[in-house]
Amino acid sequence: MQKGELLYEGKAKKIYRTDDPDVYLVEYKDDATAFNGLKKGTISGKGELNNRISAHFFHLLEEKGIATHFLEQVSEREMLVRTLEIIPIEVVVRNIAAGSLAKRLGLEEGTALPRPVVEYYYKSDELGDPMINDDHIAALNLATPDELAALKKTALTVNNILREYLAPRRLELVDFKLEFGRHRGKILLGDEISPDTCRFWDTRTGEKLDKDRFRRDLGGVEEAYREVWHRLAG
Ligand code: C5P
Repeated sequence: MQKGELLYEGKAKKIYRTDDPDVYLVEYKDDATAFNGLKKGTISGKGELNNRISAHFFHLLEEKGIATHFLEQVSEREMLVRTLEIIPIEVVVRNIAAGSLAKRLGLEEGTALPRPVVEYYYKSDELGDPMINDDHIAALNLATPDELAALKKTALTVNNILREYLAPRRLELVDFKLEFGRHRGKILLGDEISPDTCRFWDTRTGEKLDKDRFRRDLGGVEEAYREVWHRLAG
């Protein structure tokens, strides 16, 4: 597979065309940003770890019947994926109050939620990714009601699969963000699933093993990502 023209460079990834019009190549970078780009840094080794971790989760989800964009990992920091027409909605699922939810609702971080909470955010850098609801999604024509229902159902299924997989690995899935896109009339799970996009807490100690270590200057960022990989890889 030939690596072609650079199509898009984001905060954490670059997307290239390949010689197959149905396939893109994703390159994971060490760059990290937080707070809508206000905080910038690099986390050495992050690109390789997020590539591995995402490939591992996509493989697991495919095995459990979730349609994803993932095709194969082709190098330390690169994977091949199916091309997607991105649906500009970030779907967040939460099991435990943390981050923006804890702040917005005045809940103590770590409060267990009696059932998963699903939220939608409009992917827009200019607007700072505002939270939206199903009416906003219809008004902006971001997805049809059927598509939105499918996104929510899939996100909750992914939550169940990941929680069950992570529990014996002593990782609590606090919350995570998913993105989806359209490919040949089907909706596929896209983007990445990594400590950049999920909150993972050690089940016993509550230690944060995710990007909050970078966001909150807790130190040990690379070690935390590496620890997540070790627990997944056994
Ligand atoms: O910041 P907040 O608490 O809303 O984040 C919820 C979850 O979504 C976290 O796991 C965070 O890593 C993820 N997220 C993300 N990309 C964003 C916003 C949040 O991956 N732009």
